[in-house]
Amino acid sequence: MDEDFWQARWRDNRIGFHEAEPNSLLSSHYARLKLEPGSRVFVPLCGKAVDLDWFVGNGHHVIGVEFNQRAVEEVFERNGLSPQVRMVGQHRHYSAAALDLFAGDFFGLTPDMIGSVDAVYDRAALIALPVSLRRRYVRHLFEITNFARQFLITLDYDQTQMDGPPFSVPADEIDVLYGGRYRTELLESREMTGPISKRCGGSENAWLIEPA
Ligand SMILES: C[S@@+](CC[C@H](N)C(=O)[O-])C[C@H]1O[C@@H](n2cnc3c(N)ncnc32)[C@H](O)[C@@H]1O
Repeated sequence: MDEDFWQARWRDNRIGFHEAEPNSLLSSHYARLKLEPGSRVFVPLCGKAVDLDWFVGNGHHVIGVEFNQRAVEEVFERNGLSPQVRMVGQHRHYSAAALDLFAGDFFGLTPDMIGSVDAVYDRAALIALPVSLRRRYVRHLFEITNFARQFLITLDYDQTQMDGPPFSVPADEIDVLYGGRYRTELLESREMTGPISKRCGGSENAWLIEPA
């Protein structure tokens, strides 16, 4: 799952992961993040998720990163914003109002680039990555967000039934990835829905991950 893989998905409009409405697990459990107005929320591998707009609409500052430049530009366009654009190293940084989005590689982001982070929202980011990359992803996320608390949405299904992405990341892997430094709490588990549920059964799980 390198950059070419994802750019091809965007180019061919194979973006079944994109949701037309804000994620309902987020809106149901958002209060558990205990965010003050003006809190800074980091959204890794953000795509053009409408959840970005949702956080801004709820009074937060959103920082995101996404390989696909066109997806980033669409977020500003649909919000009627004309962003300032400048290059920061290898990344194209788009900034307007309460939105700062970086077009480029998540693994190239530094803490200075994204600034302070109060919370992380991870939907279809951890589970977009193969197992060989997940530990590195989680460590980099810890590092650039200074161990901020996280709202994480995962899938749990029989990986032998289907290839990812999205990948199955069961509870025992969550423990291994986040345990020790974090306390993990399963907020809700519900049956998988959407296109993937037609291919196999499984659950969609919302986690609150807080520093221990
Ligand atoms: C499954 S999609 C989820 C997008 C978004 N979180 C959502 O809920 O719609 C994963 C996204 O991560 C992006 N991506 C994958 N690896 C990345 C990386 N290393 N850096 C930046 N973006 C990446 C892909 O281009 C893709 O848009």
